[in-house]
Amino acid sequence: TPLALLIIIAAYLLGSVSSAVLICRLFGLPDPRDNGSGNPGATNVLRLGGRGAAALVLLCDMLKGMLPVWLSYFLGINPFLLGIIGIAACLGHLYPIFFHFRGGKGVATALGALAPIGWDLSGLLIGTWLLTVLISGYSSLGSLITALAAPLFTWLIKPEYTMPVSMLACLIVFRHHDNIRRLSEGKEHKIWNKFGRNN
Ligand code: G3P
Repeated sequence: TPLALLIIIAAYLLGSVSSAVLICRLFGLPDPRDNGSGNPGATNVLRLGGRGAAALVLLCDMLKGMLPVWLSYFLGINPFLLGIIGIAACLGHLYPIFFHFRGGKGVATALGALAPIGWDLSGLLIGTWLLTVLISGYSSLGSLITALAAPLFTWLIKPEYTMPVSMLACLIVFRHHDNIRRLSEGKEHKIWNKFGRNN
């Protein structure tokens, strides 16, 4: 439908607004694309020393996924298109049209896009992420394990969304290729290390 198409485009454009870059500018923090891991996301903003800023980035990046999917849900748009809208929001975050297509890794935005599926799924995913990060100290490992578990959790809770969630999971794992290399070489930066790239 034309309405769904409009929302898909709007979701991509909203996803393209890099909250990490804008919020760092606002808080007078260094550009997250050139410092730390180089990733414009909440983890790296935390690494650059901004706790409040990181929390705000997390919230805004989640809202970028949540708002278009929830709006579409209330407009009665069907589950297949809801999945496409969530993916469009994440593609905006990953490949932002306003920031030379150099975006983040999509973890927060995907989590936001999945929130309308239900708090049971969101709770499981957040719990998996937190547990992994608390044990290992690596945000990226938390994201990877959560992404790998997400299709299974979705299949158990809301099987009709297994396909779009699997696609999001693939995108997220793919975007973590540098982290995977660093993890396997034992060179990944812990979540609480400042300016990760340099130590
Ligand atoms: O959400 C991104 C996180 O999984 C990894 O971030 O900055 O450590 O590459 P970073």
